Amino acid sequence: MARPTVIAGNWKMFKTIAESQEYIKELIPLVKDVKSLVYLAVPFTALRASAEAAKGSKIVIGAQNVSEHAEGAFTGEVAIDMVKEAGARFVIAGHSERRKLFHEDDATVNRKVKKIIEQGLQSIVCIGESLEAREGGQAEQVLRQQLLRSLEGISRNHIAEMIIAYEPIWAIGTGKHASAAQAEDTQKFCRGVIAEKWGSEAAEKVVIQYGGSVKPDNAQEFLKEPDIDGLLVGGASLSVQSFIEIIKG
Ligand code: PGA
Repeated sequence: MARPTVIAGNWKMFKTIAESQEYIKELIPLVKDVKSLVYLAVPFTALRASAEAAKGSKIVIGAQNVSEHAEGAFTGEVAIDMVKEAGARFVIAGHSERRKLFHEDDATVNRKVKKIIEQGLQSIVCIGESLEAREGGQAEQVLRQQLLRSLEGISRNHIAEMIIAYEPIWAIGTGKHASAAQAEDTQKFCRGVIAEKWGSEAAEKVVIQYGGSVKPDNAQEFLKEPDIDGLLVGGASLSVQSFIEIIKG
C-alpha cells in the first residue's frame, strides 16, 4: 500500500492572523491539483482564522503544540479541546525546540500524543538526535528510545494513522541538512523499530517525514527515498513562493 506524501509547513512563532489569511489565500489555488497532502502548523492565535481561510481547500490546518493537561490552572497553556474547536486537525508534539527550550521529555510528549489521539486529531511526533549523539555513534540508540518512550502505550492502529517527523537537531534552522541517503538510512531504521514494537502493518502505514533545513533545492532528493514520506519544513514554509516550490518539486 502506497503511503501518502505529506508536506507540512511549521511556521513556528511567525505570522499574525492577517498574515496567515493572506498566505493561505495565495496558496489555495496553487495547491489545487497537487498530489501531496499539504499541512500548515500555525500559531494558536491564527488557528481559527486559518482554518476558516482554508475551508474547502486542500490545506489542512494544525497546531504546533498542545498542553499535556485537559484543563486546569496552567496559565498560558492551551488544551486539546480548545485547539480542536479552533479548527486544528493535527498537532505537532515533541518538536526539538519544545524539548530543548521548554524542557519537554519523552514522557511529556507521550502524554500530549495521548491527548491528541483522544480528541481524534492526528499527531506529528518529532524525534531527532543531537550532533553529539550522531558523532558519537549513538543516533540509533537515541532515536529508538525517543520512539519507544514517546509512543508508549499507543495502539498499533493509532500508530498507523500518525506522522513521525525525523528531524536531526543539528539540521534544524542551521542550513546544514542531512544527506538524503543518511536520512533514508535513519528513517528505515525508525520504521524497523516501529515494526518490531507495533508490527509490520503499522510500520508500513505510518508516514515518516524528514525535517531540518529543507529548501526548494534539496526537497526532491529526500522525497525520492522510499522511507521518506514527506517533509516538515520550517523556515522555507514562511513564504508561499518557496513552500510551493517544495510542494511542486
Ligand atoms: P527548518 O525547521 O526547516 O527551518 O530547519 C524545521 C523544523 O523545525 O521543523
